[in-house]
Amino acid sequence: MPNRIHVAVDTPDLARALHLARQVRTHVGGLKLGLEFFCANGAAGVREVAAVGLPIFLDLKLHDIPNTVAKAIQALGDLQPAILTVHAAGGRAMLEDAKAAAPASTRVVAVTLLTSLDGDDLRATGIADDAPGQVRRLAALAQEAGLDGIVCSGHEVAAARAEWRDGFFVVPGLRPAGGPAGDQKRMVTPAQAAAAGASVLVIGRPITAADDPDRAAREIAATL
Ligand code: C5P
Repeated sequence: MPNRIHVAVDTPDLARALHLARQVRTHVGGLKLGLEFFCANGAAGVREVAAVGLPIFLDLKLHDIPNTVAKAIQALGDLQPAILTVHAAGGRAMLEDAKAAAPASTRVVAVTLLTSLDGDDLRATGIADDAPGQVRRLAALAQEAGLDGIVCSGHEVAAARAEWRDGFFVVPGLRPAGGPAGDQKRMVTPAQAAAAGASVLVIGRPITAADDPDRAAREIAATL
């Protein structure tokens, strides 16, 4: 089993991202670069980080009309990201076109519902269902549209995998046992998420804010 730990490199600072990437490269399976990094450094920045030698998870959460998303993904194509995110709420045609536009080696994964949204937010946008119902519906849509998997919490991954046996499940919001919670509220450990069926464990601050990020990554890897 390849190393499932992907470090969330949440910084707009290219030098800091490169430093971190070099520190952790032997004990993690990939690096997640998000909007913050991409807006600051663009494709050239992604290429520099990729040159460190780890697979790149490009977490851009794309959401637009199908043609625009497909063209954006084609424009990213030569970066060959290992994983790319889109919003399931973009609808079936957008999801199908996103998958078709991505390189064959790129796993296209859907964000179902942002965890920053609660039931009141959903109702304010005209969605009557509760958050779990909406997550289930969007996960099924992503599967029907031919995507590779979804992003979900460590609490949801076992149920999600039961519904989608060969799905690819990206799980953020993890905290090693005994570590500080930060702003994550309902904690799951990396080992719990892995046992529940996570394909990728997204871990940010427990590694990036550690005095020794490589040791933190190694310690987490040892629990899996
Ligand atoms: O530092 P931490 O481990 O909390 O970082 C988690 C990463 O996963 C961040 O990049 C964050 O944006 C992302 N994420 C999350 N919770 C979600 C979805 C994504 O923490 N529900």
